Amino acid sequence: KLPYAEPYRIKMVEEIRQSTPEEREQWLKDANYNLFNLKSSQVYIDLLTDSGTGAMSDQQWSALMTGDESYAGSKSFDELHTTVQRLTGYKYLLPTHQGRAAENILFSVLVKEGDIVPGNSHFDTTKGHIEFRKAHAIDCTIDEAFDIENLYPFKGNIDLEKLEEVYKTYPKEKIPFCLITITCNSSGGQPVSLENVRAVKELSDRYGIPIYFDSARFAENAYFIKQREAGQENRTIKEIAKEVFSYGIGMTMSSKKDGLVNIGGFIALNDENVFNTASNFTIIYEGFITYGGMAGRDMAALAVGLNEATEFEYLESRISQVEYLGNKLIEFGIPIQKPIGGHAVFVDSLKFLPNIPREEYPAQTLANEIYKEAGIRTVEIGTLLADRDPGTRENRYPKLELVRLAIPRRTYTNNHMDYIAVAIKNVYDRREEIQKGYNITWESDILRHFTVKLEEA
Ligand code: F0G
Repeated sequence: KLPYAEPYRIKMVEEIRQSTPEEREQWLKDANYNLFNLKSSQVYIDLLTDSGTGAMSDQQWSALMTGDESYAGSKSFDELHTTVQRLTGYKYLLPTHQGRAAENILFSVLVKEGDIVPGNSHFDTTKGHIEFRKAHAIDCTIDEAFDIENLYPFKGNIDLEKLEEVYKTYPKEKIPFCLITITCNSSGGQPVSLENVRAVKELSDRYGIPIYFDSARFAENAYFIKQREAGQENRTIKEIAKEVFSYGIGMTMSSKKDGLVNIGGFIALNDENVFNTASNFTIIYEGFITYGGMAGRDMAALAVGLNEATEFEYLESRISQVEYLGNKLIEFGIPIQKPIGGHAVFVDSLKFLPNIPREEYPAQTLANEIYKEAGIRTVEIGTLLADRDPGTRENRYPKLELVRLAIPRRTYTNNHMDYIAVAIKNVYDRREEIQKGYNITWESDILRHFTVKLEEA
């Protein structure tokens, strides 16, 4: 048998530079110990996010040249609309400038003060948009998701009992929809099974609640269904994805992930009334309904990107690179979320740095140590991100305190993965010396992690 190799070769490269430990120490201090404040030139390998950081293909770059920049009725919109209809089965399309703009518009139509939006670990901007409207997101993810050693193959699944409890507790009018995030970013890039989507649909139908998808990584989710779910192995990614979408009435999309573009988003849906009202909000917030904040060329590249992202060969290469990194870390004995997620490896900082109290933000502490060690930028998925309770203003301590190593699509090689793994092992080897975390010196009222200022504790 021959070894595995990528189904592409590289046509253009971008230089990245290593720095010294002294430089990094100073830069981190200047950044108030918040990695979002670093300049990209101060970063060697950037694992902050897989969002908008991937490499486009030659086909996408050539599609840019055919983009139609007409204000209304752009041919690039039609290309995107046809592609989205074919992949999702949804009739209406509203482009937006990115995923959270799609959330803003859809939730402007559907979410009111006091409403309840159940789902599987809502992403932070999603939750932000719900709470901004004085509504509540209720996490109904299965308990298996919060045990990093549990090898359950679909740790993004919704717990039907928890969901039914929500449906029984609140009147139907207070629950505009159930939101299924595929894959579930906040629980570790974990997939939702087709069987679970069907069951959630069946339960929600009984209570008259519609389903929407937060679909940022829907293709990666379909790949896991094909790989892990009995009876799905012979279907194409496109067939599986379309079946998943058939159980909902609409979706929000951050095209910066499985759209394989650097900026963009959209809403796709079947409900004409929701579409009509959402169109008004699109015009106010984003732009006319045939571009919604996107350039024509970007819509053209997105149409191609959506097709590429739903090809098995691409997904196999993408997800096996993430697995490659995760397996290296497991070999080194580093505690990570298992099974390894689709877009990222998540390191358990409570196990990694048991000396750091939760009040001193162990995941942020670990992320900063990884940066100091090797110039690798990661992101905290822990207490800083979980933010304060909107009622009590107390810190919310999530079940897990994670550092996410998000892998940009088609961007780094496995040599980079080897470098990252050894860098983290080096931090692991000196973990006993890391005794102190950080205190907050300034924070914003909402989504504080982006701009928070910290000092060493
Ligand atoms: N939904 C999910 C599941 C996401 O992961 C994101 C973004 C969004 C919605 C919002 O989309 O960024 O285009 O406005 N996630 C990025 C991340 C930022 O790093 O995980 P956006």
